[in-house]
Amino acid sequence: MTKSVTKAVFPVAGLGTRFLPATKSIPKEIMTLVDRPLIQYAIDEARAAGVEDFIFVTSRGKSALEDYFDRAPELEAALEAKGKDELLEVLERTNMGSGAIAYVRQAEPRGLGHAVWCARKLLGDEPFAVILPDDVIAADPPCLEQMVRDYDGGCMVATMEVPRDKTSAYGILEVDDDQARLATVRGMVEKPQPEDAPSNLAVIGRYILTRDVLDTLDGQSAGAGGEIQLTDAIAAEIDAGRSVRGHRFRGQRFDCGSKAGFLQATVAFGLARPELEDEFRNYLREVVTAGTTAH
Ligand code: G1P
Repeated sequence: MTKSVTKAVFPVAGLGTRFLPATKSIPKEIMTLVDRPLIQYAIDEARAAGVEDFIFVTSRGKSALEDYFDRAPELEAALEAKGKDELLEVLERTNMGSGAIAYVRQAEPRGLGHAVWCARKLLGDEPFAVILPDDVIAADPPCLEQMVRDYDGGCMVATMEVPRDKTSAYGILEVDDDQARLATVRGMVEKPQPEDAPSNLAVIGRYILTRDVLDTLDGQSAGAGGEIQLTDAIAAEIDAGRSVRGHRFRGQRFDCGSKAGFLQATVAFGLARPELEDEFRNYLREVVTAGTTAH
């Protein structure tokens, strides 16, 4: 029987140094893919999967992100007066009901495992989701919904194959010769060099985790890169004999934590918009054929 997942943690405390100087004054998660901030894609995906409580792990300098989810009464009134119903609907999707969203602070950047652990007091004993907004996934149904549909306990991570020479950018799964949509995970290692990687199956930023993982994170020491790794806490579940599965989701993932990935996502999501498609496609054709650049 599938189990519902009603709480999600969004680790959004990172400095976003790869996008400086933009991130000097705006949080990375507010950066815009076509016309929606990255965080909106993550929220929409969580909602589609049945999430009702949204927990943001933030840090200094993230107030624009916190404000984004408040109502904007003046703006709403102005749109209403002009009869701009479509825009009002767009705005409506950004509003979070009172009390649906909570913010906890990560006082120091000590890694993804530590960020998730910071939310421990807001999470009960039920399984919860973790969404990394940098990983934008175009999928129908959305990735987390696919996972929830297949979820019946234990831990689950989204996974996809990556080129061998990229394993050091990901958590990597050790699986038996398991081609199933849900692969039984035998081990997990954070950012291994290609020669040490147990496979090329990478963890992508969608997780369904149990309370046990938070308990493990209590007092867990630093791992790869000197950071407290979520991967290590999930690996401990396997060592304890509990189930961890990798979900080979159907969809296209964009690494919006990198400039190249962000640009690719902009092109893909731009082309997916009916109002932009023709003009944008023609433009791309022209640019690619003529090799024009902006300088
Ligand atoms: C994090 C996780 C890693 C995972 C990746 C997915 O790494 O630590 O296991 O594969 O997200 O995007 P980061 O990209 O934050 O370095």
